[in-house]
Amino acid sequence: MDLPADLAAALDAAAADLPLRELEASVERLMARYRAPGRPDRPIVGGRVDAVAYAAYRMPATWGAVRAALSAAGERVPGFAPQSLVDVGGGTGAAAWAADGVFGSLTEIVVLDQVGEALELGRRLARDAFSGALRHAQWRQARFPGEIPGADLVTVSYVLSELATADQEALVRAAAAGAGTIAVVEPGTPDGYRRVIGARDVLIGMGMRVVAPCPHSDGCPLVGTRDWCHFAARVHRSPLHRRLKGGDLGHEDEKFAYVVATRDAVPQESPARILRHPQIRKGLVMMQLCEPEGTTAQVLVSKRQGDVYRAARDVEWGDVWPPTERAG
Ligand SMILES: C[S@@+](CC[C@H](N)C(=O)[O-])C[C@H]1O[C@@H](n2cnc3c(N)ncnc32)[C@H](O)[C@@H]1O
Repeated sequence: MDLPADLAAALDAAAADLPLRELEASVERLMARYRAPGRPDRPIVGGRVDAVAYAAYRMPATWGAVRAALSAAGERVPGFAPQSLVDVGGGTGAAAWAADGVFGSLTEIVVLDQVGEALELGRRLARDAFSGALRHAQWRQARFPGEIPGADLVTVSYVLSELATADQEALVRAAAAGAGTIAVVEPGTPDGYRRVIGARDVLIGMGMRVVAPCPHSDGCPLVGTRDWCHFAARVHRSPLHRRLKGGDLGHEDEKFAYVVATRDAVPQESPARILRHPQIRKGLVMMQLCEPEGTTAQVLVSKRQGDVYRAARDVEWGDVWPPTERAG
């Protein structure tokens, strides 16, 4: 997927104000900090240069992950049209841009974060957005734990790892308390998956139902195995992104884990979710599925199955199976 043209242009303009060398140094520092184990003792994004470096280097990937997660949720609940969004720990607004792209119904957006410079940049990036909801978004400084305003949709994207375990649960509870629907997105690592499972347990305990990726609200069948549920979003890189990230690839594959849960009604029938890249061999497609019964299964589709086989050749990791149930 491509970053929205208005966001890409705004990122270019923000980066153009700063020497490339300063941005590169800040990216190096941010990369080292995000890869380091343990939680930070102070905000990772420490000032204006860091905010621009974060936005140029990470925002396309987090935007892609949230967009994929919300699209999957939207496919599961046809007609879901949230009007209000609260983006918790929203930083420069990646999740707000993603939500606005998926749900054109949004009219009110509030982004909350502890770092004033990140919010300031987020406001500037959204100043000339095509979307009125983004142009008029509110960017509010707030430090969690604390109360979180309610909304039809609440996003918590790449935030939990910056909090102590007890605070993660408190944040998810506070974010879900006034949410119609909530999306929690984390990096697609075993640790990110564990944090998502923690959030999922809290949300189910609060009476919410899982919309995506799971086709059920029972325990995750991958807990206690060496596997973990995660997906990938392919985002095309802009020239600025390539300069800052190095390498020649025209895209990056952001691995992410997520859960979307809701208080709204969800369709009774849940299609299975494809947990890995389907393996295509001669005349055979092999898929690993998470099934509505709360179990995983390996499914083989052979060429002799005609239309089903052709459909199996077209589906991807993260899609639902069978695909006919995807349309929304
Ligand atoms: C990795 S960034 C993610 C930003 C954005 N949500 C995204 O997906 O690109 C984590 C954000 O969480 C914010 N954050 C972390 N702990 C926080 C706290 N206790 N209170 C408020 N914001 C917090 C940070 O300031 C930072 O902007």
